[in-house]
Amino acid sequence: MSDVKRIGVLTGGGDAPGLNAVIRAVVKSAVNSGIGCLGLEDSFDGLLDTNRSRVLLPNNVTGILRIGGTILGTTNRGNPFAYPGEGGEDVDYSQRCIDTFHRLALDALIVIGGDGTLTIGHQFFARGIPVVGVPKTIDNDIFGTINCFGFDTAVSFATDAIDRLHTTAEAHHRVMVVEVMGRYAGWIALHAGLAGGADVILMPEIPFDVEVVADRIREREKWGARFSIIVVAEGAMPKGGSAMVKQEARPGYVERLGGIGCQVAHALEKLTGKETRDVVLGHLQRGGAPTSWDRVLATRFGAAAVDFARKGLFGHMVASRPPDIVPVPLEEVVGKVRKVPLDSDTVQVARALNVCLGD
Ligand code: F6P
Repeated sequence: MSDVKRIGVLTGGGDAPGLNAVIRAVVKSAVNSGIGCLGLEDSFDGLLDTNRSRVLLPNNVTGILRIGGTILGTTNRGNPFAYPGEGGEDVDYSQRCIDTFHRLALDALIVIGGDGTLTIGHQFFARGIPVVGVPKTIDNDIFGTINCFGFDTAVSFATDAIDRLHTTAEAHHRVMVVEVMGRYAGWIALHAGLAGGADVILMPEIPFDVEVVADRIREREKWGARFSIIVVAEGAMPKGGSAMVKQEARPGYVERLGGIGCQVAHALEKLTGKETRDVVLGHLQRGGAPTSWDRVLATRFGAAAVDFARKGLFGHMVASRPPDIVPVPLEEVVGKVRKVPLDSDTVQVARALNVCLGD
């Protein structure tokens, strides 16, 4: 057991339902084992100065289990190793953060975030900060963990949206194209598509041919089906093409994807002559209360992160390998993406059910 007396916790990158459940579990299990907790505000910005954090006690986290977002705030910006300066240049604030960590008398730092946040956590670990990582993304694409909290909530929301689109598509004999999140991986598209009974699922792992999709719509017409539901991940791309960028990368921000659903809808209307509409679910997938499944996973992650800190398992991420939560070295995780394997059971099931995957 390591001699940890005070833990700092922060949330970084895009939010995901379940972040508050992790924070709550960290605070409750830490305090329960005699460890103090400090919540750092707005990701690593909370380490820029000593006045950007607050003590967290169990009564500060009561009632947050079911609430989306994060009580600590988050930001995609503000990588302390390359902070965007006034003139667009990168400024390195990492030593200032390390100094703040020591001035706050912290013995460990729990960073809850996606690949960007975990990469920064890993960099701080290399500079001597005892870091434990907790994976977070609705996209479910963090390498080394089978599950991420927030994914189940996003899939449930998208499934409900697809159910609703079914009734209006059927009534109007239309093609409905729904664009879901999934920058590099099609987990949300595949799972929501299967759960919602979509006719076509397009994802980044399988570049699509829009003619193949149009053929499927025509084929369905022949069977007597007068509507079709197409689910498209925002990172899906046509064969020989690339993902659609809505906004180019700028200092501190990665490029924003989006627009592929609209493009596919236009192309399908032209090719099939069928009235087509597109819907973008966007950040609705990230908002709202976490599902019970996500609450349990997030709670297990939070408690495991404190357990790792107590055991001195620094430089590791808590990872879900059902039925266990296991430590995975951050260096094995960062900079990689867990894509949907093309031979996975779910892809095979989609093919077995004759769902068109665009190839
Ligand atoms: O959380 C991951 C993600 O949902 C991606 O699918 C999407 O590209 C991105 O977040 C959008 O992030 P932002 O909130 O910065 O627009």
